[in-house]
Amino acid sequence: MDVVQPGVRAGRRYPVLDDPMALQLLAGLDYPFEERFGLPSAFNSQAQGLRSRCFDLAVQAYLADRPEATVVALGDGLETGFWRVDNGRLNWLSVELPEVASLRRTLLPPSDRLHTLSGSASALSWLEGIEDPAGRGVVVTAQGLLMYLRPAEVRRIIAACAERLPGGVFVLDSVSRWLAKGTVAGTSKVGGMTVPPMRWAMDPGERRKLRGAHPAITEVRALRLPRGRGAMGELIRVQNLLPGVRTLTPAMTQLRFGG
Ligand SMILES: C[S@@+](CC[C@H](N)C(=O)[O-])C[C@H]1O[C@@H](n2cnc3c(N)ncnc32)[C@H](O)[C@@H]1O
Repeated sequence: MDVVQPGVRAGRRYPVLDDPMALQLLAGLDYPFEERFGLPSAFNSQAQGLRSRCFDLAVQAYLADRPEATVVALGDGLETGFWRVDNGRLNWLSVELPEVASLRRTLLPPSDRLHTLSGSASALSWLEGIEDPAGRGVVVTAQGLLMYLRPAEVRRIIAACAERLPGGVFVLDSVSRWLAKGTVAGTSKVGGMTVPPMRWAMDPGERRKLRGAHPAITEVRALRLPRGRGAMGELIRVQNLLPGVRTLTPAMTQLRFGG
């Protein structure tokens, strides 16, 4: 979980992400982040910030047309996206496993428009609560989640959203097959932690295959990371665009559902 990263990136003098809620959250936590995850690297910290910013920009672009939309954040962890993009009108639903859902409720402040559903994103029961007869719109995000699910689960989640959320979009990040391989072998480490197995991976050239998940998917679009800070920021952005399969940062994709 990258809970350490928002504070690190947001606490910099020139942050790539404006995130006071993450700093507030971090200040209240007593957790040995460096012992567990090692010292944050300049590359990874900024890359994580730019990835979150890219999600925010996609959500904000959707909200520009549909300000009362529901944002469903699958595997939201202790992310603070709600406070970063809140326009005072949207509704936000975090879908998280029970232990983390309970942490979210304990550690983050409540809002009438913020709901946390305890359960697996794969169970799809969260979809029951977000029928959208008034056409306010739904944007689903899966940040740092799908790689930890099985390919069949990923396909099922995307297909169900395409079926049930006409006019909606789905924003996701994915790791390359090369990056995932080491995690499945159990040889990828971050500080003292072995990275959990990433069972779903997709090389950038395979994006268009996502369209096959359901006929209602009308568009599959690569999203560019926003401009970062200094030479490191530029390096992150450029390598993220490379079509090669050894990119170090997750690729960003947006799916659009017709109807
Ligand atoms: C790498 S963290 C990403 C957290 C957050 N989205 C972020 O980017 O900072 C993955 C999160 O997915 C959650 N998760 C894992 N499997 C899940 C599932 N089947 N349904 C819902 N959440 C899940 C974990 O509890 C964890 O919080």
